[in-house]
Amino acid sequence: MSTEPQVEGTLSVTDSRTGQTYEFPITDGTVRATDLRQIKTSDDDFGLMTYDPAFMNTASCRSAITYLDGDAGVLRYRGYPIEQLAAKSTFLEVAWLLIHGELPTAKELEGFEKQIVDRMVVQAEVGESIKAFARNAHPMGILEAGFGHLSTLYPEAKQVESGPERMEAIINTIAKMPTIGAMAFRHNQGKDIVAPDPSLDYSTNILKMFFGADYEVDPRLVRALDILLILHADHEQNCSTSAVRAVGSSQVDTYSAVNAGIAALYGPLHGGANEAVLVMLREIGSADNVSDFMDKVKSREALLMGFGHRVYKNYDPRATIIKGACDDVFEVTGVNPLLEVAVALEATALADDFFIQRKLYPNVDFYSGLIYEALGIPTEMFTVMFAIGRAPGWVAQWLEMIQDKDQKISRPRQIYIGSGERDYVEVSAR
Ligand code: ACO
Repeated sequence: MSTEPQVEGTLSVTDSRTGQTYEFPITDGTVRATDLRQIKTSDDDFGLMTYDPAFMNTASCRSAITYLDGDAGVLRYRGYPIEQLAAKSTFLEVAWLLIHGELPTAKELEGFEKQIVDRMVVQAEVGESIKAFARNAHPMGILEAGFGHLSTLYPEAKQVESGPERMEAIINTIAKMPTIGAMAFRHNQGKDIVAPDPSLDYSTNILKMFFGADYEVDPRLVRALDILLILHADHEQNCSTSAVRAVGSSQVDTYSAVNAGIAALYGPLHGGANEAVLVMLREIGSADNVSDFMDKVKSREALLMGFGHRVYKNYDPRATIIKGACDDVFEVTGVNPLLEVAVALEATALADDFFIQRKLYPNVDFYSGLIYEALGIPTEMFTVMFAIGRAPGWVAQWLEMIQDKDQKISRPRQIYIGSGERDYVEVSAR
């Protein structure tokens, strides 16, 4: 498969303002927005722009990492179906795949796993600064602060042109995301920080750092957690990944670029949705109240959180896998009573014209919160779990961006709709 753009045909455009016709190459099913700049009404005209405020129809990059077909409900990392990776792979193997493009050999995987667990430990000063936060500080705010702190502790990460420095920062990001998340969690609970144990695997370490070194780890829960992380590992140009790419395009260090992703993920319409789903399920309380809640959704008084997606207009394949993983987890932990509410909500929504017409289906967040809750993770930590899972995607996309010869600093244009030139009025005269 060629990675160079292939010209498939041309697009002819006639500008009714001038009567002039232009011909633009079509490559990869797209036209280059900058080609449209040739369309001008006069020599000093800037040229035609496209208006796409939420990037609904704009490809911001050429990427070889994740394939997503939202109509068919297909998701593949580097060509491998998400269903196969969730069934057979591990989170760190998937991380390697996303970053390097190929599955690792046994030796590569072993080395990578060791490198990651060895780097999970975070400098004591980060722990000290976390102690300055209020006990009820949101862990996503603490995670942002932690990554800001890492950026100052690794000034060499500013050398984004250096391959070895890039890889150092990539490994640190994946390794330290759960540790800072766990520090935030323990701080919220008023408990001491638990250091990672390099003799344990990544996901076991996460549970131990959250719940204490004495926590007895059930391998079925570790596997469920690993699957959840795999499902969240990348999702092409979503809001947080686009933020990482845009901020990283300024050539800021990796930790600061990743911090942009953490901030974007914090929002309730993105990573915050799994937290919002649990809040919603608790508010609904019982399956008997589902119909009343649906009336509120249809009269626009509420959103059905965990439903709908910018790209999926079909069942999110990750939601199907998570729903299956719920059974395995509940076998260990006992059934979460909110599952009944979630199942009733889903069935009601999928049979309702409002949702059918708008092609609204459960997304990844609809069931993930129920698993996190069963694992004993409180709602305000859900988005942190998402960040841990998404870390490999952010760094893989960042790496692809930084090596892309087409990439320049991300800088959209605007359509100015403000006032024309006017004279300043002294405050006394206003
Ligand atoms: N509940 C009720 N109505 C909805 C929902 C929902 N969850 N999602 C979309 N709609 C309606 C909109 O009101 C709109 O109706 P209209 O055309 O009559 O005005 C129509 O469906 C299209 O929705 P948009 O908001 O235009 O879709 P968009 O692509 O902009 O938004 C989004 C996608 C943000 C995910 C939206 O579906 C939503 O807010 N969902 C709830 C939050 C959520 O679950 N987010 C997680 C996303 S997945 C992730 O980040 C991992």
